[in-house]
Amino acid sequence: MQLKEVQFSVEVYTSAAELADEDAALLATASDIAKVAYAPYSNFFVGAAAKLANGIVVSGTNQENAAYPAGICAERTLMSAAATQYPGIGIKTMAISYHNKNGESTKPISPCGVCRQVLAEFEERTAQSIRLVLGGLSGEVYIIQTAKALLPLTFTSDDLKR
Ligand code: THU
Repeated sequence: MQLKEVQFSVEVYTSAAELADEDAALLATASDIAKVAYAPYSNFFVGAAAKLANGIVVSGTNQENAAYPAGICAERTLMSAAATQYPGIGIKTMAISYHNKNGESTKPISPCGVCRQVLAEFEERTAQSIRLVLGGLSGEVYIIQTAKALLPLTFTSDDLKR
């Protein structure tokens, strides 16, 4: 038996004020767009904003449904829009923020398991790693250099050939 360690690093910034201007601006865009999320069931309004490899910024919000499982997260809304409007273009950086009617939004959230899978496959299909900038309305900000780090032992298209 061999024990395999999987490493994961996250950069922790005290606040958005410590970020590079471009990252701070993208996080502010994510927070702004969260205001148009449709989240009447959870009251948890998520916004994502991404800088594509062609320089264009695309955004997404969570869209809920009375039939709860039909809802979609902000990150996947964004990736579907980006892949449709700019097929084949990678995402360089994605910022994710949120407003919570039941809380204060003082710490970062990170993508759910389904979004982690979609992020990892988006990276693979565009051959471009996605930097994640995660932060609430205040408090610490996390930067993760590649989304696939969030999903060790990712199931990929290669596995379909085995
Ligand atoms: N949600 C997102 O949009 N992104 C995340 O990273 C976490 C959760 C949404 C899904 C649902 O509409 C609401 O937040 C509460 O889970």
